[in-house]
Amino acid sequence: MFKKSLVAVGLAAVLTLTACGGSTGAGGGGSDEITLGFAQVGAESGWRTANTKSIQESAKTAGINLKFSDAQQKQENQIKAIRSYIQQKVDLIAFSPVVESGWDTVLKEAKDANIPVILTDRAIDSPDKTLYKTFLGSDFVLEGQEAAKWLIKDKEAATGDVNIVELQGTTGAAPANDRMSGFADLIKAESKFKIIASQTGDFTRSGGKQVMEAFLKSNPKIDVVYAHNDDMALGAIEAIEAAGKVPGKDITIISVDATKDGMTAAADGKINFIVECNPLLGDQLMDLTKKVLAGETVPERVVTVETTFDSAQAKAALPDRKY
Ligand code: AHR
Repeated sequence: MFKKSLVAVGLAAVLTLTACGGSTGAGGGGSDEITLGFAQVGAESGWRTANTKSIQESAKTAGINLKFSDAQQKQENQIKAIRSYIQQKVDLIAFSPVVESGWDTVLKEAKDANIPVILTDRAIDSPDKTLYKTFLGSDFVLEGQEAAKWLIKDKEAATGDVNIVELQGTTGAAPANDRMSGFADLIKAESKFKIIASQTGDFTRSGGKQVMEAFLKSNPKIDVVYAHNDDMALGAIEAIEAAGKVPGKDITIISVDATKDGMTAAADGKINFIVECNPLLGDQLMDLTKKVLAGETVPERVVTVETTFDSAQAKAALPDRKY
């Protein structure tokens, strides 16, 4: 792609540079600058805001020209953005798929145009692994399992039923599917754990609040909220407090992400346990982009390393929290 600074030196000089400069990737227009097209999910959560910031800052630091689009949580918008990146002949396309299914056609178009693709944060369910070079992101099944492990231990002494309500992420999204299955697979070993209601809050604070209000109206005994992200847990906390109950005491709350807002609620004892999901993927993405375009072999899966926090651990970690 053309560097803006080159425009000033005149068309003839630009044409010379274009002719001489080797393109780094398939779609490069003649300079060594890499152009990366990134199709983001949206701005649904604190996690997503931190992820976007990380990608934008890392691209700048790495000297990569970033074209960025926000799909507002709609798959059709993301597909449009990917098609537009193909038309613009970017060097590489990266995206975090809103949902798992329905990507084969557009990714085949990218492959036919010789533009490599990197999945970040979320997976797709296509059996055709040649449609993308690598997948960088968390192990969402493990995150669900971590949530379940903590709950099993925390309720070790409980003799009666433990009634759980689940706030699911966006329907069909990898983190919603995997956090649901990872959690369910472990708690089913003990019959006292009952998931009495499970509904999507779309990973948003308002969604979490709305669904929790409905859960509280129709279920007189709720012992545990398992929220697939902090924003929904924070919305649920508002609904619980409005109903005159004490979050973290009357109702145990488990969440995923460990954003500053989530960690603050945990430090205050309103969230009892948080499984970390790290959004700071920018540096690794830029590194993988450069390697793929240089023809280097990259691992087909790069898993983000993460931890967990109970209330005391959240309090201790909060001052240094980066997102
Ligand atoms: O894909 C990662 C998930 O998407 C985060 O856990 C959630 O907060 C976000 O919206």
